[in-house]
Amino acid sequence: MPKIDIKSLEKRAEKEIKNSKNLKDLDGVYKKYLDKKGELSKVLRSLKKLPEVKRTKLGKKANELKVYLKKIIEQKSKKLKEISRKQVYEKEWIDITIPARKPVLGHLHPLTQVKREMEEIFQLMGFSVIEGPEMETEWYNFDALNIPKDHPARDLWDTFYLKNRLLLRTHTSPVQIRYMEKNNPPFRIIVPGRIFRHEATDAYHEFNFYQLEGLMLDKQVSAANFKAIIEEFYRRFFKKSVKIRMRPSYFPFVEPGFEIDMTCTVCLGKGCPACGKTGWQEMMGAGMVHPNVLKNSGLNPKNWQGFAFGMGVERLVMMKYKINDIRFLYKNDLRFLKQF
Ligand code: PHE
Repeated sequence: MPKIDIKSLEKRAEKEIKNSKNLKDLDGVYKKYLDKKGELSKVLRSLKKLPEVKRTKLGKKANELKVYLKKIIEQKSKKLKEISRKQVYEKEWIDITIPARKPVLGHLHPLTQVKREMEEIFQLMGFSVIEGPEMETEWYNFDALNIPKDHPARDLWDTFYLKNRLLLRTHTSPVQIRYMEKNNPPFRIIVPGRIFRHEATDAYHEFNFYQLEGLMLDKQVSAANFKAIIEEFYRRFFKKSVKIRMRPSYFPFVEPGFEIDMTCTVCLGKGCPACGKTGWQEMMGAGMVHPNVLKNSGLNPKNWQGFAFGMGVERLVMMKYKINDIRFLYKNDLRFLKQF
């Protein structure tokens, strides 16, 4: 029977508890002395072999030691937890006064920017922005616009025919009909939108591009009103005092029809390579709405008259930013797009 030295066991245990640097160390001490196989438990178990008097005396001491060690382990554990919480606070401290990092934002495509600018100018002049479908019926894209099946003018707007017997609209003009069917004049609308043409691409042609259609109907709307509104539009858009000129032209859905030229923005009318030395640049088609178009939309040509126009959006983007190839607008090349 080895000598049971409770005093030295207490000293050792106390020292180890005191020296524990973290909860893991402390747990080790607990196991070493207090677990079932721990030193103190062994002592308690060995007591039964002792004579009664000694057993009572030692037993009492051992049990007191057990309670005491549990208590100081508990205290130490609280202290260690407190320390580690403080360390976490110090390490994971957040300075909420530092300015936030800005999220990386892209920007709108130049085509969209210009489209919105155009919409804003027309809205300030009382026009509403209307949209229509990109897949159209032959009726809306051609027949209702006074372009019957075998009319040679259909060749000007060659397009993509779909299997569902619809086609990709070749201009935004079909939305004129759709709007007139459902709304009574007087009104002013613009129709920005994507259109399609069966076309070989080059610096000035794409098979997919954007137009902005305009339509104003009332009792006495004239070509003079058209001229004033469009001149004002260009003046506001280019922020330059430009003039427009109207030349006779042909579109089946207007009568009379015009081709609109604007003072060349490069030379301001003096004549330069950009305008072929004429001082003018071709901008769009327009005209007074043809009586057949009004009839096809359910309106009486005796009561209403007005003008319509259709301009290319890419054209304005290219002029505004001096871009010499329309295809840049559809390449998604970041080196190009980042400049806007
Ligand atoms: N829709 C014609 C085109 O695409 C443009 C136009 C619109 C002409 C309205 C006259 C009136 O070429």
